[in-house]
Amino acid sequence: MNLIEKEALIQRAAEQFENESPEALIAWAVDTFPNITFASSFGAEDVVLIDMLHKTRPGTDIFYLDTNLHFKETYETRDRLAQHYNLTFIQVLPKLTVEEQGALHGEELWKSNPNACCNIRKVEPLTEILGKYDAWITGIRRDQAPTRANAKKVEYDTKFGLVKFNPLASWTSEDVWNYIRQHNVIYNPLHDNYYPSIGCEMCTRQVLPGEDPRAGRWSGNEKTECGLHK
Ligand code: ADX
Repeated sequence: MNLIEKEALIQRAAEQFENESPEALIAWAVDTFPNITFASSFGAEDVVLIDMLHKTRPGTDIFYLDTNLHFKETYETRDRLAQHYNLTFIQVLPKLTVEEQGALHGEELWKSNPNACCNIRKVEPLTEILGKYDAWITGIRRDQAPTRANAKKVEYDTKFGLVKFNPLASWTSEDVWNYIRQHNVIYNPLHDNYYPSIGCEMCTRQVLPGEDPRAGRWSGNEKTECGLHK
């Protein structure tokens, strides 16, 4: 399939699946692009998608960008999910350890230059792993941020050069939590402790009542995205 044909297919699918369930889209995605992967940070949206993928095509590659700087609760959630679904998550590591990064670029790069830190620990490793696939699935939702408001359920990811599926694009946070409760899905306990959106430990704080759910990400910094989603 050339790029023009692929773009036409994507546009038709985006229209067709806009009002269909995430499960229907996932089934179509794994059939149409068998060489597909799912990017999980083990947040609320991602555990929903792990559960759906397990029911649709168990064995689909699921990777996580291991910055080595996640909360211990995030690693524990990974392990509980792996055991429950009997699967192995693909660990994607940055080229530099935290120590090597400190020696080369200065200690606590996440404070002095969070963009550079995200680039080294997330964006570069993501670029490398996505090079092996034809399509990827993510847990982004339109109402998470203005930068995500126009996300399609199926789109061509020009940044990384492959097809991108966002099956939960039209869901609200309430939809996500209804699914988690209905299906009794394992989730990161930090969500119950005022962490609606969870990234690396140093760059994530609790949110206060009334604050935006992403206010705890790179708090005190202009930054709102780490560069995985344009
Ligand atoms: S971020 O870009 O601000 O970090 P966010 O935490 O909202 O993203 O997560 C949105 C989606 O990006 C997740 O549903 C997941 O698909 C992907 N993602 C985010 N962080 C990671 C990670 N560490 N490993 C794999 N995928 C991730």
